[in-house]
Amino acid sequence: MTESARWTNKKYGGYHTRENLDDDVDLTRVGPAQPCGEYMRRFWFPVAMTEQLGERPVPIRILGEDLVIFRDLSGNIGLLHRHCSHRRMSLEYGRIEQHGIRCAYHGWQFDADGAILDTPGEPADSNIKEKICHGAYPIHEYKGLVFAYMGPPDEKPEFPILDSFNIEGHEMIPYSIHSPCNWLQESENSMDPFHSVFLHGRVNGPQFPGLEHFVALPVVQYFKRPEGFVYSHCRRQGDLIMMRFHDHITPTMAQNGGMFQKLDGPKVFGRTSLTKWVTPIDDTNSRKFGWRHFNDADEVLRQGDKSGVGWEKVDFYGQTAHRTQEERLSSPGDWEAWTSQGPINIHQREYLGTTDEGVSMLRTKLRKDIRAVQRGKPVAHPKGSEAAPYHTYGGDTVLRIPEDSLDDPGIMRQAQSQVAKIYFAADQYEEGDRREFISGEIHKHFGSEAVRGMGS
Ligand code: FES
Ligand SMILES: [Fe+2]
Repeated sequence: MTESARWTNKKYGGYHTRENLDDDVDLTRVGPAQPCGEYMRRFWFPVAMTEQLGERPVPIRILGEDLVIFRDLSGNIGLLHRHCSHRRMSLEYGRIEQHGIRCAYHGWQFDADGAILDTPGEPADSNIKEKICHGAYPIHEYKGLVFAYMGPPDEKPEFPILDSFNIEGHEMIPYSIHSPCNWLQESENSMDPFHSVFLHGRVNGPQFPGLEHFVALPVVQYFKRPEGFVYSHCRRQGDLIMMRFHDHITPTMAQNGGMFQKLDGPKVFGRTSLTKWVTPIDDTNSRKFGWRHFNDADEVLRQGDKSGVGWEKVDFYGQTAHRTQEERLSSPGDWEAWTSQGPINIHQREYLGTTDEGVSMLRTKLRKDIRAVQRGKPVAHPKGSEAAPYHTYGGDTVLRIPEDSLDDPGIMRQAQSQVAKIYFAADQYEEGDRREFISGEIHKHFGSEAVRGMGS
């Protein structure tokens, strides 16, 4: 028993609650050969924005590894270990060539895939370049983000295409934001629907236009998937109940409902306004990469600001350090929440309650998958192509269902379960057919009154 546990429920116990407790090493450490680091290396992650790739190589750090990224004059993107294989000058000072990059120190040339093309100071018959493997990782550039796979080459999964990457009418703008803390803190925020009630509502006042009703404690349901979770939280306003579905694909990819949304009428199968990943830089730094989806159907308040989305910025409240100290103190946002938990949160110091079910589920799944990788077993990946994308569910459904004074949470729970069932049943269809099936089933199950006035 820890010293602090012995002092449970005692007053003025500061002296007895100062132990140095370790962080949850297996879940947090991302470097090479660490259990979580090895697990993370089984997935594609965004590591840079296309806009970073210009005339000069860019030094980046991902999963505790120092790397350099560049686009050569042939258009190929290279993601290489940063230090030159010869005598380790940083390739951030290298010259970009037609093929690859040339080290500034003695002119060795590295192709985008790590092959050494030239060692100009060596004799013509030297085969030194055949004896060396300069570290490089495969990349996939997609819609303004550059993804990398840093795991064993023979276990590389196909780059997964999700349905949310190509939603009709959505304009996707990439962004990226640094947080000086362990990746898990930022990622857990996406599995914690209850923080919205307090951080974004009751404690600090409403921070998200159109979602003022989020101050009510929601009815929440979690649905486990091999690749992660889908969960939904439901609240009432008058005759309307809003079910907001979230996706969380482990380790860190997440999608939520409509940004700048409004609870003013029925809506069926609204889609996400945000697709995001948390990429670990190292154990105590992470970088959010994602796309803001701009569209009329899921952003009814039209308060999005495309010019406010990009490098170190996104157009909704509380996501970066770039606000005044006064603003951050008087109304802290998500960024303050996860970074102020410390460089690496100490789970032994937490007391998880009923609102933390999502966080617990996430940690349990991560631990299981990390152990699977340690035992040489495969982990589930989302699988999807442009023709048959992986299905996601992030978005809002709003139905007109009158309040039940006897058991309203029960009514909401039942409706939410039914809608989730319909969403999942629609997995057999693609795009328009999928939406049509969902609309038809909702109409059939809940009746026309539930969707009266939709879209008006
Ligand atoms: S250190 Fe790079 S070529 Fe010598
Ligand atoms: Fe939040």
